Amino acid sequence: MLGYVCDVSSDPDYVTSYRNHVRELVENEDEDVAMQQAIGGEFAAIGFLEQELLRSEGLHPHSSLVDIGCGSGRLACQLGTWMKGPYLGLDVVQDLLDHAARITERPDWNFQLAPGLTVPVLDSSVDMVSAFSLFTHLLHEETYRYLEDIFRILRPGGKLVFSFLEFSIPSHWSVFETNLAAIGTTGVLNQFMSRDAIELWASRIGFEPPRFFDGDRPHIPLSRRVELESGQTYEGLGALGQSVAVLVKPAPAATAFGVTADLDDERPA
Ligand SMILES: C[S@@+](CC[C@H](N)C(=O)[O-])C[C@H]1O[C@@H](n2cnc3c(N)ncnc32)[C@H](O)[C@@H]1O
Repeated sequence: MLGYVCDVSSDPDYVTSYRNHVRELVENEDEDVAMQQAIGGEFAAIGFLEQELLRSEGLHPHSSLVDIGCGSGRLACQLGTWMKGPYLGLDVVQDLLDHAARITERPDWNFQLAPGLTVPVLDSSVDMVSAFSLFTHLLHEETYRYLEDIFRILRPGGKLVFSFLEFSIPSHWSVFETNLAAIGTTGVLNQFMSRDAIELWASRIGFEPPRFFDGDRPHIPLSRRVELESGQTYEGLGALGQSVAVLVKPAPAATAFGVTADLDDERPA
């Protein structure tokens, strides 16, 4: 009889693989080094670039931000010095969350274990959501579930900014080669996504058509020069390496008198 292979582990792969990844680093490295390597290194430079990108997309001191896959606080510790609005960081690894909370020094901010592929906040309540190098570790179906819930929590006009890997960017090929070398092993997944999939998902869920930025072309306006540990420098404009997608939840149309028009309103005949 034909059958399906059944995975009987209780946690999804993204939880077990990332927890194992962090545990191995913690066993073999100094804690600070492990916490920085666990999310890809270049802690100061990439955190700064992520922050500059969010600011260029409209994040301001009183915005509310949900940072999904916040890791060890690479972005949060940059934001913590100037952002006054509420911040929620979600991740699946408690050690990373603890580190993020410690270095960010913002007792008013929340760092929580992700409850699944959902975000534990009210509908239409958040200005911006970031997900840097998160969907790169999820199956497409898992990403889609997150996108649906992100749409639910964003206020009309709110934005999701996320990074992704794609085949059309030559510098992403080395990641695919790493995947090829890792066939048959159990490790962290490095998922690629296509722009047409992102466009289709965005349209089915209700987002406006996405905007994209190539990962290998500087596009992030910088308030200062950035130097990576690799020696690469950015002046004026920077790039994360991964490509970036920006998805906006549509705002209701304003009328000529500045009053919001709800097209579903029942009007007297
Ligand atoms: C490459 S790191 C990026 C961390 C952070 N966004 C940054 O740019 O510094 C990916 C993070 O996603 C987290 N992660 C993986 N699956 C997740 C999920 N389903 N929900 C929330 N976080 C997840 C991992 O634990 C890890 O901290």
